[in-house]
Amino acid sequence: MASAAEAAYMAAAALFVGGVMLLRAPATARRGNLLAAGGMLIALVFTLLAVTLRHTVWLAAAFVVGAAAGAYVARAVKMTAMPQLVALFNGMGGGAAALISLDEALSALSRHAPLAAATAVPGMLTLIIGSVSFAGSLIAFAKLQELMTGRPIVFPGQNLLNAFLLAVAVAAGVLAVAGAHPVPAGVLVVGLTLLSAVLGVLFVLPVGGADMPVIISLLNSLTGLAAAATGFVLENDVLVVAGALVGASGTILTVLMARAMNRSIANVLFGAFGQLQTGAGQGAEGVVRPTSPDEVAVLLAYARQVVIVPGYGLAVARAQQEVKDLSDALAARGVQVLFGIHPVAGRMPGHMNVLLAEANVPYDRLYELEQVNPEFPRTDVVLVIGANDVVNPAARTDPTSPIYGMPVLNVDQAKTVVVLKRSMAPGFAGIDNPLFVRENTRMLFGDARASVAALLRELREVA
Ligand code: TAP
Repeated sequence: MASAAEAAYMAAAALFVGGVMLLRAPATARRGNLLAAGGMLIALVFTLLAVTLRHTVWLAAAFVVGAAAGAYVARAVKMTAMPQLVALFNGMGGGAAALISLDEALSALSRHAPLAAATAVPGMLTLIIGSVSFAGSLIAFAKLQELMTGRPIVFPGQNLLNAFLLAVAVAAGVLAVAGAHPVPAGVLVVGLTLLSAVLGVLFVLPVGGADMPVIISLLNSLTGLAAAATGFVLENDVLVVAGALVGASGTILTVLMARAMNRSIANVLFGAFGQLQTGAGQGAEGVVRPTSPDEVAVLLAYARQVVIVPGYGLAVARAQQEVKDLSDALAARGVQVLFGIHPVAGRMPGHMNVLLAEANVPYDRLYELEQVNPEFPRTDVVLVIGANDVVNPAARTDPTSPIYGMPVLNVDQAKTVVVLKRSMAPGFAGIDNPLFVRENTRMLFGDARASVAALLRELREVA
């Protein structure tokens, strides 16, 4: 059975890698997900077959409850609440890894056996990393779910305290592994687990505003590392491979997102970005030029090229189908329609791609930031639909802006920009947007779904 399990694990690992490769493109992502899930099923079944099961009733009950809860939550979650769900699932992974290592360590100690040399170090690592990831993810969830303030919570000496707690946790781990110490190893192991959980909380508290996706991705990679380390503790190869894949892809995603915001990871972690800016949200100074659907419909009807820039408001309004219908109607009139997708538009990586895929917008109409920016100077009309921070020209022009240096979609370079949103309220970063008072900008106020539907109706009236 053991060799059958080994073979199955190899197959599962291959499916994970294949799945990750397919996840790279929106067109194949769904298949990639299914492939990786198939790999996980194989790994699960062969693990259950390979070990002598005890407490089967408890196991079965946990399996049924966990699977049912996971399936229900995943189906019921609103697209806008997906980041918090990812944070929660991620926390569960970190917590599970930490609990397994805690159980391994405490059972060895209760048998008066020393912590096995080969597994003790990964075991302690799992305890620290898994607990940080578990507690940190819960705080990320609470922030995004608005159970607590989403703003950074900072106090003097925070980073120093974090460094101290980490040093104490590592020291406790070293002492527990070394043994022969007046403090019982069990106390050290439990202590370092609790300490690491406190560290996880303190680690995420100062992160706020626009940086949440980066921290979630970082916590995700930590959970991967914790799972890989658990694989060494349990001597389970597939766990090592799966954990390493999550760790590596989470790290790459973290780096890419930080780069998309033009920030260093250290700045994200310690910069307390997103604290209330003085004067933020008071509205940029200048003249606001409101417009109406009939005026915009005429502009659109006679345009040669239109770029649609979706943002978080598109998700809130659930306007993707209306937007697809509008883009089809424009294309039918011979207008060249592109979608400009910013890497951090919305509230999670790929948010806009998922929404537009739901409405069957063809992938070849989606242009990434680098591809679409050169298009703006030759674009007649840009429709900014529920986007704000990702089209803020202050990122380019105002060195005092908190988002200065973040790559943005240069929509202001088009002939006319029409912004669809409900008010002059700021976006996620809580800062003003001078785009809204530029001479070539028109504001179409209202819920994005209603506004796009009105645009479509008016467009049909234009001869
Ligand atoms: P935001 O800057 O958050 O702006 C969204 C805008 O949508 C708001 O100004 C809001 O204005 C408008 N809106 C909300 N509901 C609407 C509705 N029903 N109809 C029309 N408009 C509506 O969005 P963005 O430009 O997509 O930028 C994303 C921001 O979130 C960035 O700061 C990014 O760093 C951050 N973030 C990104 C992620 C990822 S990974 N994508 C995750 C978390 C955070 P009104 O209230 O006036 O309507």
